[in-house]
Amino acid sequence: MNLPEKVEIIEVGPRDGLQNEAEFIATGHKIKLINALNKTGIKRMEAASFVHPAYVPQMKDAAEVINGIERAADIQYMALIPNEKGFERARANGVKALSLVVSASNSFNVKNVKMGREESIQQFESVITKAKVEGIFIRYNIATAFWCPLEGKVDLKVSLEIAKRIDDLGVNEIVFCDTIGRANPKQVYELFEEVQELQLKAMITAHFHDTYGLALANINAALQAGVSRFDTSIGGLGGCPFAPGAAGNVATEDVVFMLDEMGIGTGINLKALLSCVDIVKPLTKRELTGHYHKILKYQHT
Ligand code: COA
Ligand code: ZN
Repeated sequence: MNLPEKVEIIEVGPRDGLQNEAEFIATGHKIKLINALNKTGIKRMEAASFVHPAYVPQMKDAAEVINGIERAADIQYMALIPNEKGFERARANGVKALSLVVSASNSFNVKNVKMGREESIQQFESVITKAKVEGIFIRYNIATAFWCPLEGKVDLKVSLEIAKRIDDLGVNEIVFCDTIGRANPKQVYELFEEVQELQLKAMITAHFHDTYGLALANINAALQAGVSRFDTSIGGLGGCPFAPGAAGNVATEDVVFMLDEMGIGTGINLKALLSCVDIVKPLTKRELTGHYHKILKYQHT
């Protein structure tokens, strides 16, 4: 098996996870969760999003969250922005790492951010230029990189072409997102094989949701294709408010467990993750989709 020695886990629960919760979660709980995640060994996380509060009310307290968390010097706290206005709000709150998003599928882009894919890409070009002057880290998500809830399977050439364009802008990280959790391991392997061929300058990350229970299999396929960076969400929180039926992100503790068992280092402490799961449980009305925290009570050895 072609496996890396180490994998980097990026926690997206406080953003991709919580954004999907219909009932508003008090700012204090969000801050408590992030402060607990600080103690797990995770070095990068998406903490909030500066999106329109009418579309995603759960993220309306992004500024309070960003300003209220305990900041560890060696942890990067990212905020998602959908447009120029989001950039201005993030900048006003001292955000040093941005998470931009464009969808490979044009119709999903329109549904998500009310503008065509090209318009998003162009708007972000000027954001990137300004952000780079200020030394801001830029992560660029390609949503629906594999499947779109409106258009079906996405031609991998489309995602690759967007990745190349984005990379030419000098971004730090490109994330290939299976927004609705519909990709399969073969498709994942094929896309990342092609991504490697592109020899992009940016770091490459894979982002999987577990709608069909294929997220861990997809991570394995991506590992085989040379990917060593993954987005995950504590407890398996998440979904997408604009893609009904999409399940949560693959659970952080499940991925760390699997990688631990495979002898691949993550630098993350599973026990500390479980304390975070305990914080998350009462915040959601739904059952968490992660497996590891459920099986623990049986004390398997
Ligand atoms: N944050 C807060 N307010 C914003 C905003 C932002 N990022 N972007 C625009 N606005 C405000 C504008 O200032 C304007 O306010 P006004 O009416 O007081 O003048 C109003 O919203 C309309 O602006 P417009 O650019 O026409 O926005 P829109 O209605 O077309 O919505 C988005 C576009 C991108 C703001 C909205 O679709 C959105 O927030 N989407 C995020 C979706 C999301 O979070 N998806 C999951 C993560 S990928
Ligand atoms: Zn997602």
